[in-house]
Amino acid sequence: MTERPIDLRSDTVTQPTREMRRAMADAELGDDVFGDDPTVIALEERAAELTGKEAGLFVPSGTMGNLVSQMAHVPRGGEIVAESESHVVFDEAAGHAVVVGASVRTIPAREDGTMDPQALREAFRDPEDPHEPLTALFALENTHGHTMGQPLTAAYTEEVASIAHAHGVPLHVDGARLFNAVVALRTPARDLLAAADSASLCLSKGLACPVGSVVVGSRDFIRRARRARKLLGGGMRQVGVLAAPGLIALQDGPDGMIERLEEDHANARLLAERLAALPGITGLDPIRVRTNFVLFRLDADALPGARHLDARRLRAAFLDALMADGVMMVEYPHSQIRAVTHHGVTAKDIEQVLASVERALTRLAGSSRVASGHDVSPRTAAEAGATSSQSWPGGRDPAPETTTAGTGTTPLAAS
Ligand SMILES: Cc1ncc(COP(=O)(O)O)c(C=O)c1O
Repeated sequence: MTERPIDLRSDTVTQPTREMRRAMADAELGDDVFGDDPTVIALEERAAELTGKEAGLFVPSGTMGNLVSQMAHVPRGGEIVAESESHVVFDEAAGHAVVVGASVRTIPAREDGTMDPQALREAFRDPEDPHEPLTALFALENTHGHTMGQPLTAAYTEEVASIAHAHGVPLHVDGARLFNAVVALRTPARDLLAAADSASLCLSKGLACPVGSVVVGSRDFIRRARRARKLLGGGMRQVGVLAAPGLIALQDGPDGMIERLEEDHANARLLAERLAALPGITGLDPIRVRTNFVLFRLDADALPGARHLDARRLRAAFLDALMADGVMMVEYPHSQIRAVTHHGVTAKDIEQVLASVERALTRLAGSSRVASGHDVSPRTAAEAGATSSQSWPGGRDPAPETTTAGTGTTPLAAS
């Protein structure tokens, strides 16, 4: 059992730093719906400056950031071209359909998180044909979650933008983890977004703020996005208390939280390299770990003690065994398990995670001796699985997409 839980479910679990909490307490405030909150204004200006855009808009979440951007760009009956498993398509409760009134045309990602430019060229609808929706927006996700957090380069973004712009269609970037791409590619945010018309940047993931995203774009786009935010009930009043940590996070150098993401990437790579070497782990090429996501599968053939479990129950038993040891990961689509490194997770924690993984695999393999040499109680996989489902710290109710496998309840990660 680790001294404190090591929560690798997502980088959304990060806690604000002491400095952020102090800044929240001391923030200068005003009514932001009147445009009077100096802390919000400063954050919006800082985000715009960092990304080379004219203006910014503070919103409560990444989901709202993407939604107001779609509302600002896309007319009802328009169509959005996006990656098949991008957050906008997969994990935002069909806001594009319910709120925007748009359809999506999806294109699968390649291994490096990009979509085939030729497929993008072929995705345009014929505006003269009354049967067809009007192609109204291209969307990219940088980093791209479902390909293990691949960073998309400035050159690729420019190529996609030029395809979109040739038809008068704007490009939006879901930059929930754009700063991970900035660090991984050593390319400034303003360059990564130079060709994009808008972007939504999350503060509440690896940057460790408690709440919020900033949408950036032209002044005219932000005016429309602000109206959309009001419509959604996202106009907030003395909201500088929530914006204040963002100003700390977006500082240059070691005072901010952007440079620090490098540590998360190094920890993810360390985790991946060591995991990939363990019997029982498959589907993980550590070279592909470019940012803070590690995705892997369990190799049932290497875990004969768990032969009676189907694939879902095996994953649940593995996750529950980790949980009983104080380590949290989550199920991810395509039979994968996800671990995300973030602020508050150290290289020492990664060693503990690896020891817990070895113990869990040893149990599932049917042996009582772990690879690192420590004896463990000879519990069965089923016993391990029985321990933790009741003590899931997030206390989340099983959602419709929840996988209930074995004795454990393991929500599929969307965040
Ligand atoms: C790629 C991506 N976009 C958007 C979001 C939505 O952010 P939020 O949870 O703040 O709504 C997430 C959440 O994890 C995400 O991973």
